[in-house]
Amino acid sequence: MNEMTNSHILVNRFDYLEPASLQEAVTLLAQYGDRARVLAGGTDLLVHMKMERVAPKAVISIGKIPGLDRIAIQAGHLRIGARATIRAMENDPRIQAHYPAITDACASFSTTQVQTMGTVGGNLGNGSPASDSAPALIALDAEVEITGLDRQRRLPLDEFFLGPGKTALQNGELLTDVILPRPQIGTGSAFLKISRVAADIAKASAAVVLVREGNRVVDCRMAFGSVAPTPMRTREAERMLIGQMFDEDLVAQVAQVASEEVTPIDDVRSTAWYRREAVRVLAHDGLRCAWQRALTLIPYPSPYEGRFAGSVSPFSSGERGNQAQIEFVPRLGANEKRWIKLKVNGREHQVWVAPNDLLLNVLRDQLQLTGAKYGCGIGECSACTVQMKGEPVLACLVLAVSAVGHEILTVEGMQKPDGELDPLQEAFLDYAAYQCGYCTPGMLLTAKSLLAEQPRPTEDDVRHYLRGNLCRCTGYASIVRAVMSCADQVAEPR
Ligand SMILES: Cc1cc2nc3c(=O)[nH]c(=O)nc-3n(C[C@H](O)[C@H](O)[C@H](O)COP(=O)(O)OP(=O)(O)OC[C@H]3O[C@@H](n4cnc5c(N)ncnc54)[C@H](O)[C@@H]3O)c2cc1C
Ligand code: FES
Ligand code: FES
Repeated sequence: MNEMTNSHILVNRFDYLEPASLQEAVTLLAQYGDRARVLAGGTDLLVHMKMERVAPKAVISIGKIPGLDRIAIQAGHLRIGARATIRAMENDPRIQAHYPAITDACASFSTTQVQTMGTVGGNLGNGSPASDSAPALIALDAEVEITGLDRQRRLPLDEFFLGPGKTALQNGELLTDVILPRPQIGTGSAFLKISRVAADIAKASAAVVLVREGNRVVDCRMAFGSVAPTPMRTREAERMLIGQMFDEDLVAQVAQVASEEVTPIDDVRSTAWYRREAVRVLAHDGLRCAWQRALTLIPYPSPYEGRFAGSVSPFSSGERGNQAQIEFVPRLGANEKRWIKLKVNGREHQVWVAPNDLLLNVLRDQLQLTGAKYGCGIGECSACTVQMKGEPVLACLVLAVSAVGHEILTVEGMQKPDGELDPLQEAFLDYAAYQCGYCTPGMLLTAKSLLAEQPRPTEDDVRHYLRGNLCRCTGYASIVRAVMSCADQVAEPR
């Protein structure tokens, strides 16, 4: 972070635009050209803006365009809308059944909060060589659909990445869909990642897709992340395997060749030497895992054909569907301030905001809801967690203006109006699950989301779901015990 940067606020001023349709979005993108940035989940863009690495004149939120978050199998292809979140993809039964490498990639992704906010469009659109979804999607032969004012085009994802932070997207274009072909019978896929800690981007990652006929490999694609300026395929290694009988010696040789094909660098996360070694091991394990999975792939036609998840049904007709129910702030100028309505803890509040005001600061400073805490300001501690639409999000990376129309819950809203505490709050008291209490509101809201999703989590589930909520005092054991004590059916006597 540059010395002058203050991650508490966004210093950059910009016009905030919230198009209600795809057409409107691409019109605005065309008008602003390279002065505009698309805002999806904001977990990447807002961090870069806070660090003053980018200073767009316009931020165009695609958060309320209906249909862009849809996941559907249509005509034998899987279409993933650009605004589908990492978490929605991880939990999607069709992806789990037919494209397990994507499920692996999404499961390995950062924290629950970042998975909940981050989208596949943002994960590809930022052009990062460390993108977790990219190697899996490339190995699965994905294409991207790109929409501009006058044309729509499709591109193999492999050709989308041009360099660190650079993609084939031109000014005025929006990535709208990721399209995956039907996997052949006998396809197996896997994704593996090595990172410094659980909630971090990759030191190295690998995705393997292979097609097996008996003991022979009839097709293979391997893609790697964080080991070259862009996510990359290792075609020589792939060629060595195609047409061959699968055996341990060959797998070891293929993994060695893959590690020689990648072009890693030394940086803060790892060394080039380590990354090559990691590629060798990940390729080896990925090939073995994909080989086993090839026996169990659920074949197309998919039992899920025609089913979709997301905000509206068909892309073609859904564009202006449901809009009466959605509240928009169509435009807020860079130097303007406006009264907006925020629904917080069941009540509607009027707050006075500029485009660059963050939800965290508005909650704390204007509504005196100081439960949500400022820790890092860049998505790494989760002390600022609140619930939005019932899901845990990082208030330090949400523009207040984009929260209009969504229900927000802070720790102050967990207790009943008569003052009775939520069972989780009681459990935190009973199990001494806090010391200084700084992380506690974020922990409580994240745990509340977990119990709503999984009423009977295991201890591993609790630790995994809360992995992004950092605590400097308790050592976590008492927190996990407190959450477990609230789990349906498995509550221990207090
Ligand atoms: C703490 C932390 C941990 C992280 N861990 C991981 C990790 O483990 N793995 C990983 O891969 N990433 C990780 N990231 C990076 C980031 O969260 C992901 O890349 C995420 O998927 C970005 O999605 P988003 O919707 O939040 O993107 P945004 O921040 O909204 O946008 C990112 C970029 O893509 C552009 N963009 C967004 N949508 C579109 C679109 N539809 N068309 C064209 N351009 C678009 C934006 O203009 C911007 O330049 C992490 C980030 C943080 C803060
Ligand atoms: S303050 Fe928001 S994640 Fe740390
Ligand atoms: S109780 Fe102090 S940071 Fe968690």
